[in-house]
Amino acid sequence: MAEGKQQENEVQNGVRTLVYLDDETEPLLSHRPPVRFELDTSRLADGDHRLRVEAYDSTGRKGVRTIPFTVRNGPGIAVDGVRDNDVLEGKIPILINAYGGAGEIDWEPSRAETPAPIPTWAWVLFISIVAFGAFYGVRLWEPPPDFATTPTYGPLVLNLPQSAGSPATTGNASARAEQRADTPGSDATLGASVYDNNCVSCHQATGKGLPGVFPPLAGNPAVTDTDPTTHIEAVLNGLQGKVIDGVHYASPMPPWADQLSDAQIAAVINHERSSWGNSAPGVTAKEVARLRGKTTGT
Ligand code: HEC
Repeated sequence: MAEGKQQENEVQNGVRTLVYLDDETEPLLSHRPPVRFELDTSRLADGDHRLRVEAYDSTGRKGVRTIPFTVRNGPGIAVDGVRDNDVLEGKIPILINAYGGAGEIDWEPSRAETPAPIPTWAWVLFISIVAFGAFYGVRLWEPPPDFATTPTYGPLVLNLPQSAGSPATTGNASARAEQRADTPGSDATLGASVYDNNCVSCHQATGKGLPGVFPPLAGNPAVTDTDPTTHIEAVLNGLQGKVIDGVHYASPMPPWADQLSDAQIAAVINHERSSWGNSAPGVTAKEVARLRGKTTGT
């Protein structure tokens, strides 16, 4: 072979490079620089190795360079539970995963996801975000005094000009609300707050009630009926022993006629008729007043 011959000549000239692997005495190759070759690591055992290069110049002087390297053709190893030079005592849970050897063809990245416990910092972060959310929610729930009278938080103030025009009704929140409640659904905020103050304990914020104990108002026939009479009368006078959607409720629904104004009752009824997926037509305070008159014998 011509190449072999040429190499031999150059080696004889003195200028040559010898490459050794680990402690072998036979060089991997011996060639005139520059040397370009392929190191086949698949023939080496995984672990630490060394490449030792010896080079000679034309005067016969020798230079040496050693390059340590690590071969890893087998799977990578992930260890959770113990780290280098840890001091251990007692029983320690250790988790080991091995993935991604060079020879593997259908390698799934998910195999590299070592199932480790959620780190403490992640918990701390999570809890602080949730805590801030709760804090922020509470802040909005109880608006600071400066904002309590803005349109966002204080719906009654919205109509101040109106009530200023009719002094007879100023200073009485429910009377003012009554004016507005002449239009069905006009005071969603009042309805929601009447509901939260008086009804939520039984019928729940979800409007789903408590199965078998308090009936749901979401999808309730009296609430979704276009004729609001049953709905208004139930709230004014309370209910006892009515079977709703096949369920008998042992406890009574208290009457509200003495505690809530016509406007408040209209508002809470409209709240119920337009919440939790309900969309029945609204009622006015006048309708409530009419039915209240009837039932109290006026
Ligand atoms: C102490 C618990 C309790 C509270 C508070 C309460 N309810 Fe009820 N409510 C009931 C029960 C129990 C029934 C079912 C009574 C029955 O079936 O005889 C009911 C039934 C109803 C019905 C269905 C009427 C029907 O004919 O199907 C409506 C509407 C209703 N309540 C609205 C309200 C509103 C509005 C408030 C607040 C102003 C309120 N409830 C507060 C317990 C309560």
